[in-house]
Amino acid sequence: MSFVRHLVYSRWLFHHTKPLSVNTSILFSTTRSSMTIMPAWVIDKYGSNDVFRFTKNASFPVINYPNEVIVKVQAAGLNPLDVNMRGGYGAATMSMKRDPLNIKQSGSEFPLILGRDVSGVIMECGLDVKYFRERDEVWAAIPPWKQGSLAEFVVLSANEVSHKPKSLSHTEAAAMPYVATTAWSALVNTGGVSKDNCAKKRILILGGSGGVGTFAIQMLKAWGAHVTVTCSQNAERFVRGLGADHVVDYTAGPVEEPLSALEKFDLILDNIGGDTERWALNLLKPWCGAKYVTLVTPFLQNTDRLGIADGMMQTAATVATKALKHLVKGVHYRWGFFAPSGPALDEIRELVDAGKIRPVVEETFSFSQVPQAFEKMEKGHARGKTVVQISKGGDDL
Ligand SMILES: NC(=O)c1ccc[n+]([C@@H]2O[C@H](COP(=O)([O-])OP(=O)(O)OC[C@H]3O[C@@H](n4cnc5c(N)ncnc54)[C@H](OP(=O)(O)O)[C@@H]3O)[C@@H](O)[C@H]2O)c1
Repeated sequence: MSFVRHLVYSRWLFHHTKPLSVNTSILFSTTRSSMTIMPAWVIDKYGSNDVFRFTKNASFPVINYPNEVIVKVQAAGLNPLDVNMRGGYGAATMSMKRDPLNIKQSGSEFPLILGRDVSGVIMECGLDVKYFRERDEVWAAIPPWKQGSLAEFVVLSANEVSHKPKSLSHTEAAAMPYVATTAWSALVNTGGVSKDNCAKKRILILGGSGGVGTFAIQMLKAWGAHVTVTCSQNAERFVRGLGADHVVDYTAGPVEEPLSALEKFDLILDNIGGDTERWALNLLKPWCGAKYVTLVTPFLQNTDRLGIADGMMQTAATVATKALKHLVKGVHYRWGFFAPSGPALDEIRELVDAGKIRPVVEETFSFSQVPQAFEKMEKGHARGKTVVQISKGGDDL
């Protein structure tokens, strides 16, 4: 049994061995009726930075399922996805996830709260939640179809939440869950690596100096892999400091030339996309299970452009064609996606508390500076994550 499976099993066992305090399956919403509003940054339509609106009257999250928890947000982490979602990216797929039967009117997602990472304290538990208690310190990556963490409170499924590493402050912890669970999903679930099989693997990370890359380098090094990274020259020292064994500067010319002079790889994680697909699969060891996993996929663009049905058909046809084309050459072509996972974060917490992975915080903003944080993210390359401190709620506004 893999360690994550073991963790899932432990959570299940915990869940099923503790007696239920209330013997009913109907009374699962225990949200205190006295709290109906909270401070939050919301958007009421998609657009550029001027769509942000601060309100003290956002709807307080409600526990709708017995396995949900309400978290009081201490710090929120921002990702490139938040900037893209503000502009409407992925709206068709997110609407489908929120309202699968398509009952609600278009625009029912507004007012929408962004923010994919949270570190905070459990304020309330649904009646089936046994693994967490009120006042537990937790961290989580929030699925993009749910209301985000740029608010005083957020509701999540207990399966998405994990106890926060004790060695990190809330601000540091909020820099990690989304990139960590994305890298985990791509490398472990899709790429097939684990702490038990990584030791002699040669792994290439295209775009190693951003949020996903900096996490991936540290986790793979903690598991004993040999890690090669591409990034700009001024990020070289930084990625070497995180453990990268070999660094190739993409600003010095086409990276495929220096990379093809190296011994071939067992796994490639592509955070860049576009042109990379033309040459990167030639860098894999053929006929020995080597995989190329890209995080840059056209899935959300296709559904935004063509609608859900046609977009999914187009996406399935594209990935199947590419996978087949490369399979005949003896290498595997895969798409990686973010997947929320409390059990993965449980395992990542062990690595963090053992000092093997550290958060990379680029800049910290106060809750009143959310629009400035987005502006800064849009402007340039980050060496880590942008974090917003929310512990004071809306008091500074
Ligand atoms: N499919 C999914 O579910 C999913 C989930 C999360 C993220 N993603 C995608 O994964 C990618 C990485 O996310 P992230 O959060 O790590 O983004 P990020 O923080 O913006 O990092 C990207 C990094 O790539 C570097 N870079 C830019 N052009 C490059 C090139 N040609 N070659 C090598 N490095 C280059 C930049 O650093 P330098 O200063 O070194 O240039 C930048 O720091 C994004 O495209 C994101 O949209 C997908």
